[in-house]
Amino acid sequence: MSLRGLASRIGQLEGEGALAVFARARELERAGRSIIHLELGEPDFHPAPPVIEAAKCAIDAGRDRYVPPAGIPELRRAIAEYLHRTRQLSVEPDHVLVSPGCKTALFMTLLTLVEPGDEVLYPDPGFPLYRSLTRALGGVPVPYRLTRENRFLPDAGEMEAAITPRTCVLLLNSPGNPTGSVMDERVLGQLARLAVKHDLFVVSDEIYARIVYDAPFRSIAGLPEMGERTIVVDGFSKSFAMTGWRLGYAVAPPEVHLGLRMLVENSYTCTSEFIQWAAITALEDPSGAVPAMIAEYRRRREQLLGGLNTIPGFSCLEPEGAFYAWADISGTGLSDREIARYLLEEAGVASIPGSAFGAAGADFLRFSFASSAAQLEEAAARIRKVSSRWASAPARSSQ
Ligand SMILES: Cc1ncc(COP(=O)(O)O)c(C=O)c1O
Repeated sequence: MSLRGLASRIGQLEGEGALAVFARARELERAGRSIIHLELGEPDFHPAPPVIEAAKCAIDAGRDRYVPPAGIPELRRAIAEYLHRTRQLSVEPDHVLVSPGCKTALFMTLLTLVEPGDEVLYPDPGFPLYRSLTRALGGVPVPYRLTRENRFLPDAGEMEAAITPRTCVLLLNSPGNPTGSVMDERVLGQLARLAVKHDLFVVSDEIYARIVYDAPFRSIAGLPEMGERTIVVDGFSKSFAMTGWRLGYAVAPPEVHLGLRMLVENSYTCTSEFIQWAAITALEDPSGAVPAMIAEYRRRREQLLGGLNTIPGFSCLEPEGAFYAWADISGTGLSDREIARYLLEEAGVASIPGSAFGAAGADFLRFSFASSAAQLEEAAARIRKVSSRWASAPARSSQ
């Protein structure tokens, strides 16, 4: 039997580094090894009890039907109110579109905006989907670098130099994965001026917006003239520890919203009804679960950073948001992949080599601190133990 080949766009898609490390870590576990999982961006919390209760009540009440493609009106209204309360954004509920996860919202947004040959500016290091999906759509991903010297914030001058008549989208992610940097008013103002001057859409991935430790989070969508050209994407996975519930949303200007709705109608029809009802309770957060989780992440940030910064050759800036330590390992003389391999195979600590997030991540490793304090302590001890491997090695290996 002969089969036709797959569509060429599939060959352009790249997998996620985290999932590849996770698969190897599970293999080692099956062989009897003890592994501490610091590779996945998955909170070790579960949703707050009132959210679980609300989902059960919604199922009992028969709220398991097809619903409008853009989401149930009650949740769209609750999201608009939430964004006003937590981000000072003035959002029309009509501009909200509920989706099964933030990734789906991102996927549909790029599908709506990117034509073959269009250029998309994206952060390097950054979430792998930005580059992968742009390429699959026939677009041209153009990286902008986030460097340690610039506290992993975008350099607007460098970005402007990369803009051409084919640039159509500026992708932003603050707080950022993997660096944990949070854009301040000054940077947001510079980027907003660029977007207006060059008539760009801005896709602002705000999935970590609630997880900030120092300054309050600001959305670029709140700046003058930005509401009409910004698509905010967000979700419940991180802020509400609801990864497996698959719930996210986009806030988009009307013509983009129409494109998104068409995609929903032509793909998954609507997002699960009872999960949407439970999400309203998550946003209201009657038990104060979100601030409690953030306080715990703040403690773990201190603990993990304290541990990593005592490892020979490691150096880590304090992340201002999200739950990742982005460790500069250039002082070890080994590559990110070599160190990640030692840590996983010999120390039983799973991390992600920085180059999985783009070429600019090659001297880094990402460690998630969404794991328990006891696991973080054990991870630091295990890493210290194997660090003698490189502490005595004088030169960078050629591998
Ligand atoms: C920057 C960023 N955007 C989006 C997502 C995906 O979120 P969701 O689980 O809602 O699809 C992640 C998850 O790791 C992320 O790090």
